[in-house]
Amino acid sequence: MTQTLTLRRPDDWHLHLRDGDMLRAVLPHTATHFARAIIMPNLVPPVVRGADAAAYRERILAALPEGSDFTPLMTLYLTEDTDADDVAAAHASGLITAVKLYPAGATTNSASGVSNFDKVAPVLDRMADIGLPLCTHGEVTDPAVDIFDREAVFIDRVMDPLRKRHAGLKIVMEHITTADAVDYVRTADANLGATITTHHLVINRNHILAGGIKPHYYCLPVAKRETHRLALRAAATSGDARFFLGTDSAPHTDANKLLPCGCAGCFTAPNTMSILPEVFEQDGALQHLEAFTSLNGPAFYGLHANEDTLTLTKTPAAYPGHIDTPEGPVTVFDPMMPLNWSVSRD
Ligand code: DOR
Ligand code: ZN
Repeated sequence: MTQTLTLRRPDDWHLHLRDGDMLRAVLPHTATHFARAIIMPNLVPPVVRGADAAAYRERILAALPEGSDFTPLMTLYLTEDTDADDVAAAHASGLITAVKLYPAGATTNSASGVSNFDKVAPVLDRMADIGLPLCTHGEVTDPAVDIFDREAVFIDRVMDPLRKRHAGLKIVMEHITTADAVDYVRTADANLGATITTHHLVINRNHILAGGIKPHYYCLPVAKRETHRLALRAAATSGDARFFLGTDSAPHTDANKLLPCGCAGCFTAPNTMSILPEVFEQDGALQHLEAFTSLNGPAFYGLHANEDTLTLTKTPAAYPGHIDTPEGPVTVFDPMMPLNWSVSRD
């Protein structure tokens, strides 16, 4: 039986760091395991222009623990007013790695997102020209569409027309939650990839709703039925280069989660690298863990895999149930299983 496993250092291709006190509290939990992360721009106000991303990047670097070599990969938040020249300049200078599409109203702080895709067509054409990827929150916001169907309907109504209209555009379907999305990505051309979160490999919708409501398992896109979770597991553990880790670790204080109308998000940054080996081992796929965490993402983004490594050792791992922040406690995702892989930096 494998007792130690050395992986190229992983990257997180979808991460929420927030700002201010929360940023300072959560960032070390990512920087200790991950070399790079795609930083979500859904701050209040959002990170819209290159200058906003430059300032946010400085705040992230200033919040890093002494000696950390973590690299934030910045993104811009696509609005109907986004200026293609500003995006192209931010890309040319190396400041940004992707642009994020939120359908207006789809999730936390998405009010400035896109409703009319005609308005963003010139920006998307420019991104295709310069090879800048689009990260997508793939859910329709039509209130008539059931929340459990919003990803599948997004593929038909938005993603497929978008890919036909902007054939050269690299697109990441982020935090996919359905067998529909897995099938769609598998059969698409090489310009389409997908991230999968840690928590969607572990929970299905029963974990949120059966036996009492569990706000800490509520995130968006919401976890679906078990058949979908199994399809995500099969995709993640297959080694298929289209699928890579994006934790969508999304810290909210307990006070903001435990409300009559609580926030969406699971905070998985601290324990993801102990949960994933457990998941891959259960599925007899430890040999594909490195592809998912450390190789497929950089390859899709045209970046080098990290040179340094992380070692996983088969010894029980302990994580706190919550972290303290100046804004209040943030609960760490509970995977409901013992974690038998401990993580150390080499
Ligand atoms: O669960 C989520 N939380 N999904 C999102 O799309 C946004 C995120 C957040 O910012 O809290
Ligand atoms: Zn997210």
